[in-house]
Amino acid sequence: MQLVSEIPQLRELRREWQVQSKVIAFVPTMGNLHQGHLNLVREAKRHADVVVVSIFVNPMQFGPDEDLDAYPRTLPNDAKLLQELGVDVLFAPKVCDMYARGLEQQTFVEVPGISYMICGASRPGHFRGVATIVCKLFNMVQPNLAFFGEKDFQQLQVIKAMVTDLSMNLKVFGVPTTRENDGLAMSSRNQYLDPAQRALAPVLYSKLQELNAAIVKGRRDYTNLVNACKTELAEQGFKPDYIEIRAADSLMPPSHEEKNLVILAAAFMGKTRLIDNIQIKL
Ligand code: PAF
Repeated sequence: MQLVSEIPQLRELRREWQVQSKVIAFVPTMGNLHQGHLNLVREAKRHADVVVVSIFVNPMQFGPDEDLDAYPRTLPNDAKLLQELGVDVLFAPKVCDMYARGLEQQTFVEVPGISYMICGASRPGHFRGVATIVCKLFNMVQPNLAFFGEKDFQQLQVIKAMVTDLSMNLKVFGVPTTRENDGLAMSSRNQYLDPAQRALAPVLYSKLQELNAAIVKGRRDYTNLVNACKTELAEQGFKPDYIEIRAADSLMPPSHEEKNLVILAAAFMGKTRLIDNIQIKL
C-alpha cells in the first residue's frame, strides 16, 4: 500500500492506472476506521482493480460547536488495517492543501432541498461541507466506483444527487450498516460513550425495529408512531433530535401508498449524537 499525502503524487498514480485501463474504486473516510469502514473496503475490492481509501477529517462539514478538534485521529493504526486488507493507496491529504485558499474563500457544492431537511436542519451547512469535499476528492481520485455506508443514509442520497446533477462519470454504491452484536450501528463517535451510555445506546436501533414492525403490520399513523417512539427514547435516557419516516428515494414525507420507506433517527446519549436508520420495502 502506498501512503500518499500530496495531490500531484495521487494524480500521477491516477495517470498510470488510466494507461493500464484499471477500474478504480474509492472509499472516502474521516479515519478512525472500524469494521463498518473495512466492509466498505471489502465491497470496493470485489468490484475493482485498484482501491483508494482517503482519510481526511473535513473541517468544512463540522459546525462551530461540534467535535472537529476532538474527532479521533488514528492514522498509523488505520494505515495498518488498510494495508492488511490489501488497499492500494491511502490518500491522507493536509487541510492546507485541500483548502488552499482558506475555508472562507472556498468554492462550494450544495445540493439544494435534500441538504436542508432532517440532519441538514439540525446541522446547517453540514451537507454543503460533505458535498464539497466529496466532489473535490472525486476530482482528485477520479474513481469509476465510490462506496459509502448506508448508516449515513441522507449523506448517501445527497452524494447520489450531486453525482447526477453534476453529470459525474462514476457509480455510487451504498453498503449496508455494520452493527455491533447488540445492534448498535458502528460509528467512530461510539467511543465517546461511557460504559453506562454504551449499554443503553442499542435501544435506539431496537426502537427503530419496533417502528419498522408496526409499519410492516399496516400502521400508517406515522405522527403517532414517531411521537410514541420519541417519548420512549426520552424515558430510556436519550434526547431525541429527530425521528422521521420518509420516502426512501426523495426523503420527502411519504404518501400512505409509498412502498419504499426509510425511518431516520438521531438522538443524543449524553453529549454523543447517534444516528441510525432502517429501510422498509412494503
Ligand atoms: O462519512 C464520512 O466519513 C464523511 O462524511 C465523508 C463522506 C468521508 C466526507 O468527509
